[in-house]
Amino acid sequence: MAETRFGELLRQYRRAAGCSQEGLAERAGLSVGAIAALEQGIRRAPHRDTVDAISDALGMPELTRREFEAAAAQARRRQRPDDSVLPESLTSFIERSEIHELQNLLAAHRLLTITGTGGVGKTRIAIEVARRVEHLYDAMWLVDLLPLRGGDLVRSQIAARLNVQLRGDDGLTEIAHRLRSRRVLLVIDNCEHVVVEAASVIEKLLGRSTTLTVTR
Ligand SMILES: Nc1ncnc2c1ncn2[C@@H]1O[C@H](COP(=O)(O)OP(=O)(O)OP(=O)(O)O)[C@@H](O)[C@H]1O
Ligand SMILES: [Mg+2]
Repeated sequence: MAETRFGELLRQYRRAAGCSQEGLAERAGLSVGAIAALEQGIRRAPHRDTVDAISDALGMPELTRREFEAAAAQARRRQRPDDSVLPESLTSFIERSEIHELQNLLAAHRLLTITGTGGVGKTRIAIEVARRVEHLYDAMWLVDLLPLRGGDLVRSQIAARLNVQLRGDDGLTEIAHRLRSRRVLLVIDNCEHVVVEAASVIEKLLGRSTTLTVTR
């Protein structure tokens, strides 16, 4: 796997903060056993509250926090047996007028790009739109590119999310195969730092699968 595993990240950040497992456990209100199990990868899919408690206890800056949560979210998703799921939203959605416009655009186009300043609600609205059109698709996946360090990992991130093993040539054959003959919606989040490679991969996939639609 391309991205750093949650347990390794946790150990790294804890040590960087000069904190022992015991110290962190006490500050975060968790057991030493729980911290150890997370670091060793025995517990792989930490709950969001646990991740928040650890981030608070280590005084993580916002960017680190997001990377940490992204790794945890990735771990949680990997544990899910069913392959076509959208992340749960913990808060209720505040209706936005753009949602109908996005639904209409999605019905007419196979590629939809959502842009806007940080925190404006791009991810949330993309998930909400996907949820509302769920009945129109056989499968939908959210692929988060946030944890990626380099654009060359875009394909492997998509493949991992779709539970596909990459082999040979440009690495897209297996992904295209997985998408074949199914109406699939891919929501690809946080493309900006790997935008060139993400655009290239998405364009190739759209070319190979006529039943694929992408929101990014
Ligand atoms: N319509 C909405 N109703 C309720 N909560 C919302 C809505 N839009 C955004 N939020 C909440 O606001 C926060 C920021 O939204 P979101 O993560 O979607 O922004 P973003 O534009 O994707 O940010 P970034 O640029 O950092 O990726 C989230 O906690 C999200 O759940
Ligand atoms: Mg976002």
